[in-house]
Amino acid sequence: MKNIDYRYRLADPELGSSEMEYLSKCIGEGMISSQGRFVHQFETEFSAACGAEYGVAVANGTCALHLALEALGVGPGDEVIVPSLTFIATANTVTHAGATPLFADVDPDTLCISPDTIEPWVSPKTKAIIPVHLLGQPCNMPEICRFAKQRGLHVIEDAAEAHGAEVNGQRVGSFGEINCFSFYANKIITTGEGGMCTTNDAALADRMRLLRGHGMDPNRRYWHSVIGYNYRMTNLQAAVGLAQLPCLDTWIEKRRWIYSRYRELLGYLGNLLYFLEEPQGTRSACWMSTLMLKDPNCRDKLLDLVGLAGVMVLVEPWREEAGRGRGAGQARRSQGPRMALRSSRHLPSKTLSKRPWSKFPLGFL
Ligand SMILES: Cc1ncc(COP(=O)(O)O)c(C=O)c1O
Repeated sequence: MKNIDYRYRLADPELGSSEMEYLSKCIGEGMISSQGRFVHQFETEFSAACGAEYGVAVANGTCALHLALEALGVGPGDEVIVPSLTFIATANTVTHAGATPLFADVDPDTLCISPDTIEPWVSPKTKAIIPVHLLGQPCNMPEICRFAKQRGLHVIEDAAEAHGAEVNGQRVGSFGEINCFSFYANKIITTGEGGMCTTNDAALADRMRLLRGHGMDPNRRYWHSVIGYNYRMTNLQAAVGLAQLPCLDTWIEKRRWIYSRYRELLGYLGNLLYFLEEPQGTRSACWMSTLMLKDPNCRDKLLDLVGLAGVMVLVEPWREEAGRGRGAGQARRSQGPRMALRSSRHLPSKTLSKRPWSKFPLGFL
């Protein structure tokens, strides 16, 4: 593989004058901790954008997942079904809660779990399912929720990578009992570090707020009715999130366009690779433009090609040896060769013109 000078990094945040303006207000008002007006405003506006009633802003997406599990009472002796392919935090937080993660296989066309792949792992110990909308593609949530309801299981959406993705016109973050987002700097909407739980259940929202703030009784200062955490989001983070939020729809549109361009430009390599499908009724947020390699031997040549266009690529980033849970072996087997191409809105249109994408060495075709 050649030494490539990437002009376009895999992901970087878009920060502008609104972010500056809101941050200046925080500093001007001396409100830089979690005690600031932007936190509540961001919770209200982000949860509304997802079609959920309540939002509980937290320090990051990992805290959001852990808070959700704690609020639903998941603990020692319980099992939680997660995808065999995800970022490690989905499984780690189950272990942090004292429960055991079980790894359900993902559909190779969507990289999502489904009732068919969840079913083999359900037992009397199963307490919850965490579907992950990987790389922006939403799982079939109506089916998963129906499946879970019939078996009395909780559903926590891990929507860290899929802000604004939809199933049948309904946005992710509104299907599960609790739904979790990350606002890490590479996400569609960012707060630097940050996260949020959304829910339609007022009692669960209250429970999460209590756990988030050291378990301190909201009506009695320094009275701690439960053992809580400090998972709070700062006013500074919320300020950045609020400034970003109005751009969500435009940014998703741009990512979807970039994805469709990659598909067109690399369409002639159909015998070597394929792109993820968007099943009917779903609308991906296209966080990353993901392609799967049919022939792993072409990987380095493909990397050269993408590098020639100056586009950074993530190769097989999800090889997690998610160790202790049952199904971990299966998790390893489901790791096919994959690449995620940069989908950031900074990518100029000319980068996605015909040259140099058509220069794959002909000997491989
Ligand atoms: C699917 C998934 N879940 C959870 C997380 C954890 O979020 P954070 O990094 O904000 O803790 C991430 C992070 O990128 C993620 O991609």
